[in-house]
Amino acid sequence: MTQRTKVAVFISGRGSNMEALVRAARAADCPFEIALVLANKPGAGGLATAAAAGIEPLCVDQRDFGKDRQAHERAIDAALRARGIQVIALAGYMRILTPFLVDAWAGRMLNIHPSLLPHYPGLDTHARALAAGDQEAGCTVHLVTAGVDEGPILGQARVPILPGDDEPAVALRVLAQEHRLYPETLATFCRGLEQGA
Ligand code: GRF
Repeated sequence: MTQRTKVAVFISGRGSNMEALVRAARAADCPFEIALVLANKPGAGGLATAAAAGIEPLCVDQRDFGKDRQAHERAIDAALRARGIQVIALAGYMRILTPFLVDAWAGRMLNIHPSLLPHYPGLDTHARALAAGDQEAGCTVHLVTAGVDEGPILGQARVPILPGDDEPAVALRVLAQEHRLYPETLATFCRGLEQGA
């Protein structure tokens, strides 16, 4: 196989999607490797999980940069370039990015969002789907562009909303699909990069 695509996963919390990506990358034919797990706060639980899996954890603490978001992103960008990272996978990264990082990584930054975009961008997606009486929920992997949760869709998975479901029930059902969809979609994306798509 040609060189695997070097991916940095960005997290702010527990990092279960990051873990799914790490697991997938262990397969011999996986076209990507997780070369870095980056968080914007030291409390992100996924940093320890990454370290335990033998992957470099890096916290670029947003508090060190005060209100200067771009300075924070310049530090992140420098860390990525120093490590030869080729693709960013946002996975529960809870800080809105400025055009600086979005433009620098245009076409090479993916995100997973827990709704069937374009429905329910932003937060509280499952609560809003339940309040609307929707019969299905799901998740979307998309390219990151300037608008929050707006970029081109690369893959989606749907699940039913069942009678009696509450928000945790829907979240759990969707999360199981996230863990399948993200590795699959990232693999397809990286194969496309290899072929110069
Ligand atoms: C997931 O639901 C993901 O879709 C959203 O944030 C959550 C992160 O969960 N962007 P985890 O940290 O991957 O467990």
